[in-house]
Amino acid sequence: MTLLRTEIRDGIAVLTAENPPVNALSHPLRAALAEAIAALPGAGVRAAVLTCAGRGFFAGADIREFGAAPQPPAIHALAAALEALPLPVVAAIHGAALGGGLELALGCAGRVAAAGAELGFPEVTLGLIPGSGGVVRSARALAPEEAARLVSLGTRIGAEEAQRLGLVDRVARGDLLAQARALASELAESPRPPLSARPLPPAPAPELWQSARAAAAKVHRGVEAPDVALDVLAACWGTDFETARAAERAAFERLRGSAQSAALRHVFFAERTAAKAARASGGPEIARPGVLGGGTMGAGIAAALLMAGYPVTLAEATPEAAAAARARLEGLIAAAAKRGKLDAGEALSRLTVGEGAPALAACDLVIEAVFEEIGVKRAVFAALEAACAPEALLVTNTSYLDPREIAAGLARPERFAGLHFFSPAQVMKLVELVPVPQTAPGTEAALWRLIGRLGKTGVRAGICDGFIGNRILRRYRAAAEALVTAGATPAAVDGAMRGFGFAMGPFEAQDMGGLDIAHAQRQAARAAGAPVPRCLGDVLVEAGRLGRKTGGGWYDYPEGSRAPVPSKAAARLIAPLCRPGTVPGAEEIAARLVGEMAAEGRAILDEGVAAAPQDIDLVEILGYGFPRWRGGPMFCTRAGAPALARAG
Ligand code: COA
Repeated sequence: MTLLRTEIRDGIAVLTAENPPVNALSHPLRAALAEAIAALPGAGVRAAVLTCAGRGFFAGADIREFGAAPQPPAIHALAAALEALPLPVVAAIHGAALGGGLELALGCAGRVAAAGAELGFPEVTLGLIPGSGGVVRSARALAPEEAARLVSLGTRIGAEEAQRLGLVDRVARGDLLAQARALASELAESPRPPLSARPLPPAPAPELWQSARAAAAKVHRGVEAPDVALDVLAACWGTDFETARAAERAAFERLRGSAQSAALRHVFFAERTAAKAARASGGPEIARPGVLGGGTMGAGIAAALLMAGYPVTLAEATPEAAAAARARLEGLIAAAAKRGKLDAGEALSRLTVGEGAPALAACDLVIEAVFEEIGVKRAVFAALEAACAPEALLVTNTSYLDPREIAAGLARPERFAGLHFFSPAQVMKLVELVPVPQTAPGTEAALWRLIGRLGKTGVRAGICDGFIGNRILRRYRAAAEALVTAGATPAAVDGAMRGFGFAMGPFEAQDMGGLDIAHAQRQAARAAGAPVPRCLGDVLVEAGRLGRKTGGGWYDYPEGSRAPVPSKAAARLIAPLCRPGTVPGAEEIAARLVGEMAAEGRAILDEGVAAAPQDIDLVEILGYGFPRWRGGPMFCTRAGAPALARAG
């Protein structure tokens, strides 16, 4: 296949690139572009159009090439070559024009975007900055606050907004190519200076950089790239284009070699691979999902289904519980509507709330989210099998019970599996898909498809206590407790994990969620005869310290205080179980705890509970707050990985 073809008609050359699936600017494509651009002056044309065949415009640099030494021609050289031409080239943009693709477009004399086009600089999400003139040309094309937003947040914008901001000249409603040709002709008649020669807008007030940094820190916590992008942008106002561009390139090259960018690229491909599994499943489409149980989890799952556009039935045991479930769900939908995620009235028009399994009779999928007790679950599934059609899929959202024990009571276990959502289910991107041995391939395929439609990332987990995520969580918490037993304070451990990049340490997180949940699980395991040793968490629960909700857990939360305060009372309670020794420093604490997570991850892989290390990384990042820019516990402890330094 030719990567690039040039057609000349009426004095205008149209360069069409075709590099499926997303027209990434791979080395061969860049070489073809360089050749075609160089040939334009001798082609006897007055103008040219640069466009792409297929799904969209150039989706950016080929991310797979970032791991190796760069091969010329670089994208920034192509953008410079476009600017240096004696004739105008207009970018005709449809679909996504991202990263290097948008940078090439900014090297063109003009830009026309189709109405559905999407433009942006996602580099920061990969730990990079636009390094091919994207920052320095944005400084000249856009108002400073808009340039700051685009280069530091990675926000993708639509064609209309791009036109309003000055990033594109026109939005094409009809024939994109015809309108690009028209603009090219106009620019041939009345040329204008390229972006690099355009004067900068007046310098922004210094406060802009502070607020831009704060906004970026919220969206990309711990990631260095947004600040670097803002530094490069701010420096434009003190220097000429070429110097600024060289600084942009140098910063890009430095980040390209950084551990953060390697980790973020790893997560990018892990997510794409997971999404591909969902897409490739070819399973039947679920048409009428239902949820049994309208507590926090059930209502959250129902909200996620409504947000994905499904008609949803939510059932509870009694009229009172059904009314409470409806109110809970309406609250979640109202909150989502407030954030502009949906139209609350329209979403709720697709909701039916009813009582008991018979209310779910018409559903082709029912997700059970009731109390975590095997007897309760079995009764509920028996009722569901009696009420629903034999083809209906019945799944459990259990997080700790063995789905095989639920399946054992079913007449049609081939239509059953576990689907473990994370709370709040309408927000959290992760779902663990847990088939039982009897689960039919068609059942699993339909669930993959559902996960894809929900916009979530699914990870297949085998059956073990806690599946992938909660099993690692248990080991992580036990290791954190072991550090406290050895004399570290909970605050020191939490501080070390925050320093590593978590938003919260393990003890703060337990106080937030409540210590009673894990305690109840330990008690259940003990009652079943498992050798679960008494731990510090048990002591706190027995003393009524369940966490924030009781005013204290590992920490105290004095009236009105949201911040955890180190607790003398908790320290006194746990002291008899502690054997203080040498307390490690913060880096050592983080390295030890992440090492424990990775060790559990390796055991999980050895047992076949997870298929690949990157699945474990996704579970930790999307479900448990592991810092994305560390790449996950398996990635950051892989052989040859740099030592786990503290976050800047
Ligand atoms: N470099 C290399 N491969 C890329 C890529 C890139 N810039 N962007 C996407 N791909 C790959 C994906 O990994 C996937 O590969 P696979 O089929 O082997 O799994 C394939 O292209 C299709 O991508 P997918 O995301 O499934 O397609 P989509 O139509 O849903 O979305 C995009 C297309 C372009 C919107 C989306 O892929 C995207 O946002 N890519 C990121 C682009 C980016 O970050 N560019 C800046 C680079 S600095």
